[in-house]
Amino acid sequence: MTKKVLVTGGSGYIGSHTVIELQKSGYEPLIIDNLSNSDERMLGLIARISGQKPLFERIDLCDRKGLMDFFSRHRDIAGIIHFAALKAVGESVAEPVRYYHNNITGLLYLLEAMQEHDINRLVFSSSCTVYGQPEQLPVTEDAPVQQAVSPYGNTKQIAEEIIHDSSQQSKLRAISLRYFNPIGAHESGLIGELPLGVPNNLIPYITQTAIGKRKELRVWGKDYNTPDGTCIRDYIHVSDLAQAHLIALERLMKGENEKPHEYFNLGTGEGYSVLEAIQAFEKVSGVKLNWAFYDRRPGDVEKVYADTTLANLKLGWKAEKGLDEMMASAWKWEKNLAAGILD
Ligand code: UD1
Repeated sequence: MTKKVLVTGGSGYIGSHTVIELQKSGYEPLIIDNLSNSDERMLGLIARISGQKPLFERIDLCDRKGLMDFFSRHRDIAGIIHFAALKAVGESVAEPVRYYHNNITGLLYLLEAMQEHDINRLVFSSSCTVYGQPEQLPVTEDAPVQQAVSPYGNTKQIAEEIIHDSSQQSKLRAISLRYFNPIGAHESGLIGELPLGVPNNLIPYITQTAIGKRKELRVWGKDYNTPDGTCIRDYIHVSDLAQAHLIALERLMKGENEKPHEYFNLGTGEGYSVLEAIQAFEKVSGVKLNWAFYDRRPGDVEKVYADTTLANLKLGWKAEKGLDEMMASAWKWEKNLAAGILD
């Protein structure tokens, strides 16, 4: 079987780490990305880690012609890992049409192209956001999908449904991976998260505050029903997450999937509060963080962490890296950015 794997959004945060894992296992990743939220210089850094610069084409998935043209030029693609999507919750509330267009139209064109070119394996980047605030924790894949609180979240739900329906009526075989909170950076410190502008997510905000790019970390809410009053999340190292994509793809390649469309939670199974995350960061970095409590952020769920039994059993995958390692790698990356690694 061919070793070519298309990675949409492969120059982005999780995509770039997955490209490294694919290369390490002898695959030939082909990247398409519109660079709307990533940087082409990431490709050079990938090459510094792996010794191979992956093929890259700047293509927007909503450019149907450009996409079809790509597939007619690149034959023998064994499978697709689909990351390319917009992902900022607040922005999606402000610009719903842009979010639905980008995330849904892009997926539909991709599925059409897959059908046309007889490519039948898809790993999809989904999110624990589909569970909303689950009634039972840790949350299993059987928990009901809840009404999304943002257009972003809704695009993940709709995308799962589209993939599901399509897999029932075609040769499509798909795995949706529901990520909890991906953080950290590659152990080399050469690739990591590159937020555009002011970060929304906790860990880049922490590291940017520590390095002096931001004045103060605002901790959203101190009166949640949790031991220290702050929200609880299941943080997972991006390299562990990347590894799971490779395993999921190989499951489809080997025909080991039990249904046309499967879903797996990807987390560590451990929940940590915002204050625990700050403490872990301060411990591993030796930097005292400037932070203060603020009001709750609209749309935040109180606590969510994964039951990972299904991924452990069926994929034979388990997250290995703990919170300290996640924080240390995120900090190493932030320091490398400050030292001009992209210049
Ligand atoms: C968010 C999205 C989720 C999406 C993910 C990836 C929401 C409700 N969820 O996850 O759907 O898949 O991003 O983009 O937005 N926090 C602070 N101060 C900050 C930033 C965050 O206190 O400056 C807190 C939050 O309140 C939360 C925790 O840190 O309790 C994690 O926040 P974040 O990193 O933004 O991730 P989620 O909100 O869990």
